[in-house]
Amino acid sequence: MNPLNRRQFLKSTTASGAGLLILPTGTLFGQNRPSSKLNIALIGVWGRGLQHYNVLKNENVVALCDVNELRFEDALKVFPGAKTYIDWRKCIEQKDIDAVLCCTPDHHHAHIAIWAMNRNKHVYMEKPIALTVEESRLVREKYLAKKSKLATQAGTQRHAIPNFARVREMVQDGAIGDLQGAFAWGNRQLPKPGYLPAQGSPPDTFHFDLWLGPSPEHPYNPEYFSGKQGANCLQWNMYWDFGTGQVGDMGNHTMDLVWNAIDAKWPTAVEASGEAFNRDVTPVRLITHFDHPSNNWRPEIRVSWFQGGALPNSPARWIDLDVIGHGAMFKGTKGVLLADFSTRTLIPAAGADLTYYKPRPVEKLIPPVGGFQEEWINACKGDPTKTSCNFDYNGLMTEQMALGLVAYRVGKKLKYDGVKGLTDDAEANKLLRREHRLGWTLDG
Ligand SMILES: NC(=O)c1ccc[n+]([C@@H]2O[C@H](COP(=O)([O-])OP(=O)(O)OC[C@H]3O[C@@H](n4cnc5c(N)ncnc54)[C@H](O)[C@@H]3O)[C@@H](O)[C@H]2O)c1
Repeated sequence: MNPLNRRQFLKSTTASGAGLLILPTGTLFGQNRPSSKLNIALIGVWGRGLQHYNVLKNENVVALCDVNELRFEDALKVFPGAKTYIDWRKCIEQKDIDAVLCCTPDHHHAHIAIWAMNRNKHVYMEKPIALTVEESRLVREKYLAKKSKLATQAGTQRHAIPNFARVREMVQDGAIGDLQGAFAWGNRQLPKPGYLPAQGSPPDTFHFDLWLGPSPEHPYNPEYFSGKQGANCLQWNMYWDFGTGQVGDMGNHTMDLVWNAIDAKWPTAVEASGEAFNRDVTPVRLITHFDHPSNNWRPEIRVSWFQGGALPNSPARWIDLDVIGHGAMFKGTKGVLLADFSTRTLIPAAGADLTYYKPRPVEKLIPPVGGFQEEWINACKGDPTKTSCNFDYNGLMTEQMALGLVAYRVGKKLKYDGVKGLTDDAEANKLLRREHRLGWTLDG
């Protein structure tokens, strides 16, 4: 049975509560057991990968892939039935896989997402789902073409914090009047001088060339791999060939607070400023502005991202935005809404009496997401459209943020045609994409 038919079957057994159905051995699941569990490949098994083990334990992890062979020993204790791979291009070909959960470094994300969707696998992709505008668009397009069959989730798990829904409701129910602008910022600073010099050689158990994957060659240096479990990304995500700095790191989480509330698609213009350009390293300090057209409930707005110590103007003398390390602010005709991931504060404008604010009744509140990874698992087994951060929603946001880095690099205000995925500047258009090494086709 091909993966999609098998999935249809899972869907119907789950929906009818027929999880106890005894299946003909080996014919439906590629594994010799009756089950309504998903067959999952975990790509990148350590670090962030460990955060997913508790949910994965309830499913069949049939494949483990990591470029560091030493990571398999512990992973196999938890998922003893899994086959192991060092190259995700081979892993993804394993026929019985229904779904891929990917926790590799960022420079593989778009590739893995696209290769997996091309093979009809559901995908949970750690954020950011892509590095460039071209990659974000292709991930989104691939998803849109199969959205009735494939469940996708970008790893912005903070989205499940109920505050995200409450912020959206307050903005849309008129707590600040008509929305005029939205801002997000993050204060993480990881300055680096440039790519690391050659130092030593990788152990036989570590496949550095596969780690580089689609990115250009760089000499090995163990410093790229010296970070704490779950935070090793901070050792490589500042370098242009491996990440997008805070844009794809905390920016993906924090802009999500804004993106979730504004129902935006493509910006029509973008401009950026920041520290002097470094050809190796993404900027610490960066300010990007995106002009978004009006939609059916709000006027045209400007959306801004500030990082590395840059901040929007405070709405009041007595509010120090710097205290909110990662925050969002919505300005409206009747006041301001400030938020961090879990709390929010409404500041009505002078003279605003709140009579215009009609909070929705309790039965109309946005339902809780619940477990973020579980939401994806349930969508894989049931209705694939039921994830809160699918590759349409997150793909547009990631495209916007990547576009901001292009405007920063060319140092000009750019017009953007979202339908075509092109700016009005030839130099900028070249930066919407990156070269991928031979053997690492994006649409493979
Ligand atoms: N959602 C969150 O809150 C959150 C938090 C931390 C990290 N992350 C994301 O998770 C990802 C991983 O971050 P990390 O800190 O765990 O990084 P890491 O450098 O520790 O890598 C994670 C694992 O992937 C393996 N790996 C590296 N390249 C691989 C490849 N080509 N194929 C297979 N395995 C490979 C590594 O050996 C390691 O075991 C990043 O994209 C990061 O942005 C998300």
